[in-house]
Parts: sequence; C-alpha cells; structure tokens
Amino acid sequence: PKSKTIARALLAWFDAERRPMPWRETRDPYRIWVSEIMLQQTQVKTVIPYYQRWIASFPTVEKLARARENTVLKHWEGLGYYSRARNLHRAAKEVVREHDGRVPDTLDGILSLPGIGRYTAGAVLSIAYNQPVPVLDGNVKRVVSRLFGLMENGATRKSETRLWEHAGSLLPATRPGDFNQSLMELGATVCLPQNPMCLLCPIAKHCEAFKQGEPERYPPPKQQ
Ligand code: ADE
Repeated sequence: PKSKTIARALLAWFDAERRPMPWRETRDPYRIWVSEIMLQQTQVKTVIPYYQRWIASFPTVEKLARARENTVLKHWEGLGYYSRARNLHRAAKEVVREHDGRVPDTLDGILSLPGIGRYTAGAVLSIAYNQPVPVLDGNVKRVVSRLFGLMENGATRKSETRLWEHAGSLLPATRPGDFNQSLMELGATVCLPQNPMCLLCPIAKHCEAFKQGEPERYPPPKQQ
C-alpha cells in the first residue's frame, strides 16, 4: 500500500480521535521537548499535572536555565528517573549559552544536547519545527512491525535501523508532527500489545499482521 494512503487515513483518524493534552496546545519547541522527556517512561495521565507545574514555574528555557538544581528536582519529585530532570536542566543552560536561547532546529544540533536521543529529536523536530523526521518508541515499533509484518523487534542494531527506516518511509511531507503523534496514539489506544482493537484501526486493511490474522505475533519476542 502507498505510504500516502496510510498517512492520509492515520491523519483523518487522529483529527477525529486526538485526546486533548496540554502540550498539544503549543508549538513551542521548549514545551514540546519538556513534554516528550516527561512522557518517556511515564503515562500521559501522570505527566499532565507535572507538566502544568513545570511550565508554570519554568515557562521558558531561560527560566529553566536560571533555576537552581534543587528547585528543578523538586518539580520532578515522584516522576522517577531523575537523570531526565538533570539533563533537561543542563541542556537548557546549553541552549541559552550556546544557541542564544533557541532550541536547535537541526538533527545534529538537537542531538548534541544532553538527554536528547533520536526519539526526542524526532518528536521536537517534527512537532515543533514541522520537519519530516521519524519517531520510534515502544508503541510506534509495535505499530510499524505489524503494519509491515516485520520480524523485527529492535533488539539488534540492524533491526532497530530497519524499524527507523520503515517509520521514516511512512512520513508525509505535510503535518509530520501530527502524523508521528497519530502513530504514538494508535499504539497507545488501539494497536495494543495484547488484544489489539483492529476493528477500530484506520489502517487495518493495509496491515500485514491483521491480514495474517494474528497481529499479536508481532513484534516477535526479544530473546532473554
Ligand atoms: N507519548 C510520547 N509522546 C507523546 C505525545 N506527543 N502525545 C501523546 N503521547 C505521547
């Protein structure tokens, strides 16, 4: 199936089903970045109040850069994985000192910041800067491996690379940020690890795993 057909179906579904979230009200790269770091190991419902408090206290990257580390960590209390907060703080200082207070809008620039890997880079570049850069998290891996019927789980470098390539191959030239979020959202709400709700899926008719009748076989389990 053409990636354009798939992108169109996913975007139409996202337009109808998107759940309101505070970071979906903004295109501010700093705010998108904060939300994506918080969302990495934490559920949406848990993140929302933390995000609101964070933005109230540190509305700009400059405010964050000027805050004391203890104050920053206080705002993270309960979220866990505190290195995420320390890296955000360090990276904010770097953005202010080295990039004139603007979050870099190139892949190399943004990847050079502490705590920003390929996932966060793709999310910020696509959502805030409208650039056609893919994202791949656990949810997107599952969607992509099912859609293409891939025997890939991202366990090896080669398999990880292939999943990134497939995610990139789907990206439309317009609305890459919404498209990436539609993949995340599909994985979070419909294309579930167990009992995926294929009857509700806007791209089931293009999905290799659905056609084979056993979507749960994808992605294949990782070796222990
Ligand atoms: N999980 C990671 N990024 C997300 C986003 N932008 N919206 C919803 N859930 C997410």
